Amino acid sequence: MFISKLKLINFRNYNKLDIILHDKLNIFIGNNAQGKTNILESLYVTGFGKSFRTNKDKELIKMNKDMAYIKAEGKKRYGEISIELRLWNNRNKEIKTNGISLTKLSELLGSINIVIFSPEDLKLIKGGPSERRRFIDREISHVNKKYYYNIMSYNKVLLQRNNLLKNIAYNKKLLKTIDIWNEKLVEYGTEVIFKRIEFIKKLNMLSRLMNRRITEGKENLEIKYLSNIKIDKKYKTQDIYESFKQMLEKKIDNDIKRGFTTVGPHKDDLGIYIDNKDIRIFGSQGQQRTAALSLKLSEIEIIKGEIGEYPILLLDDVMSELDINRQKFLIKSLKNVQTFITITELPELMIPLDKEGSIFKISNGSIVQNNDI
Ligand SMILES: Nc1ncnc2c1ncn2[C@@H]1O[C@H](COP(=O)(O)OP(=O)(O)O)[C@@H](O)[C@H]1O
Ligand SMILES: [Mg+2]
Repeated sequence: MFISKLKLINFRNYNKLDIILHDKLNIFIGNNAQGKTNILESLYVTGFGKSFRTNKDKELIKMNKDMAYIKAEGKKRYGEISIELRLWNNRNKEIKTNGISLTKLSELLGSINIVIFSPEDLKLIKGGPSERRRFIDREISHVNKKYYYNIMSYNKVLLQRNNLLKNIAYNKKLLKTIDIWNEKLVEYGTEVIFKRIEFIKKLNMLSRLMNRRITEGKENLEIKYLSNIKIDKKYKTQDIYESFKQMLEKKIDNDIKRGFTTVGPHKDDLGIYIDNKDIRIFGSQGQQRTAALSLKLSEIEIIKGEIGEYPILLLDDVMSELDINRQKFLIKSLKNVQTFITITELPELMIPLDKEGSIFKISNGSIVQNNDI
């Protein structure tokens, strides 16, 4: 898929923007704080209905304005697509796909598939487990609406169970009602765990391959789903269900004491290893970057596998973080992927881009120059 046109009104520091995008490569170049990331952010919003930088739509609206408007038009395997969003200061956003209003944000997911790679992604490796869980959840939700529903439902039930646990501390009689919540938690939780294991298996195979290619066969990357619930290699849903249920029952006293649910997929993590060493602790910065790059490129392939076409890729400020070999590998891998790159100066690209494209020079919320590469 690709996006061919982008229109913005009162989005971040743009009054008005109307651009034709190249179907292969688009480079946004400009000094800091000129509006490069804002453009990628607006594209991201058309894919996910919200930003990767903030949960507050208000921040996306140009200062002192009531509404921000974004429209992206593009092509998918099955035809044309247009997405329009209106973000308001004091009411809910409106979203339309191909002119038809959506009632729920979840209906938007999958209309435009987007993968983003930014320095933040290094957090995926170095940050805490919650970063990695968010990564897994986002990636699976992206191509699987049922998963999105299951994880949302799980989180809702979790919240209710946690509230109940806090109340039980004051009123022991309430303990009788916990079974209903346990059952629901285990039901959704089992689906979540199963799907995550499946996804990580795929991601592991692909990223291992990518990583071997980037390092010319020198390193073996391995990623594993680390669950606090005992799950054997076959990971049958029935077994996950039983195991999770038993754990919940076993930990009930502890849960009441702590006032929250201490076991379940909301406590799981992703282990990332090179040659059997945990790279979060032992990996060099180079290894961590290579691993992050391998994961991202695998993500693109997984989406391709699931939906039958490549997503679009946003590369925000990552070129300067990658050395010449990694840049080469990245660009070579993206032949069929519409790519959006932000850079502050051209020398950040250390390689000739044998890909056609457009370069947009950005200054203070407008495009001041537009050339072919
Ligand atoms: N809601 C907003 N209204 C007006 N300007 C904004 C808003 N949000 C951010 N900006 C401005 O956008 C600029 C940052 O844009 P960004 O795309 O992140 O820069 P960069 O080119 O470094 O990627 C800053 O000048 C900031 O003041
Ligand atoms: Mg930026």
